[in-house]
Amino acid sequence: MKQLLSMSFVLFSLGAFGISTASADEFLADRHAKYGLPCTACHVENGSPKLKIDDQKHEACVGCHGWYDEVAKKTVPKDEANVNPHSQHDGNLPCTECHKGHKKGYNYCGDCHMYNYNVP
Ligand code: HEC
Ligand code: HEC
Ligand code: HEC
Ligand code: HEC
Repeated sequence: MKQLLSMSFVLFSLGAFGISTASADEFLADRHAKYGLPCTACHVENGSPKLKIDDQKHEACVGCHGWYDEVAKKTVPKDEANVNPHSQHDGNLPCTECHKGHKKGYNYCGDCHMYNYNVP
């Protein structure tokens, strides 16, 4: 019994701190820190909650990843019956309607459609 308990403690610890590089309990900003990017990759200055916005009112994300036409190429669904999450029809939809910096991503399309997106 004692052994079982310590075994589950080990498993719990591995789960909590993550062995794999893409641990599910890390948020977008944490992963960007792992890619070597500072807070100011997305924010106007260190410690500020404000996001950088370019002259087209696009968030900093777009400077590195491109606009929807570009990111859509990376998220073509394997199953043709599914809809590309970046094929949106809202014009200037901010990336952060779905991609949250420091909390779980939000399935914005799911407000109206039955699409089950798991937003990284
Ligand atoms: C990949 C881009 C990105 C990076 C890097 C990033 N953030 Fe954020 N941050 C966001 C986004 C997006 C929001 C908007 C709130 C949300 O949707 O979570 C935000 C919001 C915040 C807020 C407002 C409170 C909150 O949680 O919403 C603070 C404070 C903040 N960030 C601090 C930081 C600090 C400090 C760092 C560096 C350790 C950092 N951020 C790195 C994207 C980023
Ligand atoms: C300074 C450049 C830079 C900025 C700004 C930036 N990223 Fe990234 N992002 C990267 C790099 C580098 C990677 C890792 C390589 C890759 O997957 O392209 C990455 C990976 C990602 C990934 C896939 C892997 C993961 O960890 O989820 C997503 C999703 C992502 N970024 C979304 C965003 C969003 C949304 C924003 C704005 C809030 C943003 N990025 C801002 C450079 C950036
Ligand atoms: C409707 C919600 C939504 C919005 C808005 C959104 N994304 Fe995404 N994004 C997703 C989902 C869902 C995935 C994961 C798709 C998958 O795993 O196939 C994703 C994945 C990504 C990735 C990783 C692609 C890869 O290499 O696997 C990047 C980078 C990214 N988004 C950037 C952006 C940027 C930049 C914007 C704004 C221009 C944006 N996203 C707006 C839902 C969204
Ligand atoms: C505020 C509600 C709302 C949101 C949020 C929304 N949609 Fe829609 N969408 C609609 C409506 C209404 C239609 C038109 C439906 C019709 O005429 O059959 C539509 C049509 C579509 C269509 C055309 C095919 C169809 O089902 O009729 C696609 C594809 C689509 N949306 C994808 C998306 C994606 C991807 C997102 C997230 C980025 C999204 N939508 C977010 C309301 C929404």
